Amino acid sequence: RKRIVSGVQPTGAIHLGNYLGAIKNWINLQDLYDTLFFIVDLHAITLPYDTQELSKATRNTAAIYLACGVDTSKASVFVQSHVRAHVELMWLLSSATPIGWLNRMIQFKEKSRKAGDENVGVALLTYPVLMASDILLYQSDFVPVGEDQKQHLELTRELAERINYLYGGRKWKKLGGRGGAIFKVPEPLIPPAGARVMSLSDGLSKMSKSAPSDQSRINLLDPKDVIANKIKRCKSDSFPGLEFDNPERPECNNLLSIYQLISSKTKEEVVRECQDMNWGTFKTLLTDSLVDHLHPIQARYEEIISDSAYLDGVLEEGAVKAAAIADATLNNVYQAMGFLRRR
Ligand code: TYM
Repeated sequence: RKRIVSGVQPTGAIHLGNYLGAIKNWINLQDLYDTLFFIVDLHAITLPYDTQELSKATRNTAAIYLACGVDTSKASVFVQSHVRAHVELMWLLSSATPIGWLNRMIQFKEKSRKAGDENVGVALLTYPVLMASDILLYQSDFVPVGEDQKQHLELTRELAERINYLYGGRKWKKLGGRGGAIFKVPEPLIPPAGARVMSLSDGLSKMSKSAPSDQSRINLLDPKDVIANKIKRCKSDSFPGLEFDNPERPECNNLLSIYQLISSKTKEEVVRECQDMNWGTFKTLLTDSLVDHLHPIQARYEEIISDSAYLDGVLEEGAVKAAAIADATLNNVYQAMGFLRRR
């Protein structure tokens, strides 16, 4: 079976962008592929963070995966830092990663510009190498992510090819350069809709955990009245009717797209239903469908998060399964790179 891996950082609340861009799509994939979903806690320390919150946020994120429908009879769910091989492989990969590749990463440029050079840890720069390690350790075929991770996936692919070229040896060259002997070269799976959910306060910037105003995003665990309030106050416009794809109406496009995905309707159905609506009517419709969709997820979340023995068991089992695959790859890489192995 082909393999899929993906993960979310346990920083801030998981929002509709994370859900529609990534987690919701994982659910359909777990029937077709061998799937591993991790909580990337090691990535969460690349910017200043609260040590009191990290482990709690990690558990909460795991509970959200399960509440959204990740099924542990099919998928492995685990915490990145529980599988040591992630950090170990990262070091090996980093020896073959040109600094120039990392300096070019858009997320690094944006985040480091905000923080200022003296406040930026080296880990913010090498973050994509850890992400490559997350993916390559499992010989993954596909990685379902939102649009903003596309560049990191490209770097992962280039790095896999580079390592295969440098250390894959004759065996790999005979294969003609594809799907190397050391690492499989993975492909991103970016959904046709939902890959870039935009902010509620500005249809031109993406919905993000780090945006200062909570009003700019719908969090998966927001209660009904909070959702209603956020939708009521979100940015709209004064054009008549509602439409997709009008560049002058990014907010309108974004909210219709959210409605389309949450209600599982086609674009045509949404156009027919909403084109003559005013904002007031549409906002009520959108609020109701969000609340209906999120309510069962929230109810399951409450059950899961209150059963810590169950959650611990899931994460333990996930880590054991993941480590078996990861250790085999790591061992191979050490060998290919010429290390003396312990007997
Ligand atoms: P993170 O935690 O920022 O986001 C998790 C997932 O949510 C997607 N996403 C969005 N999709 C649509 N619209 C948005 N506004 C939006 N915001 C976020 C992201 O694209 C992502 O799929 N580096 C990754 C985590 C990671 C990872 C990995 C992912 C680490 N290792 C290995 C896949 C495979 C990150 O910070 O995602």
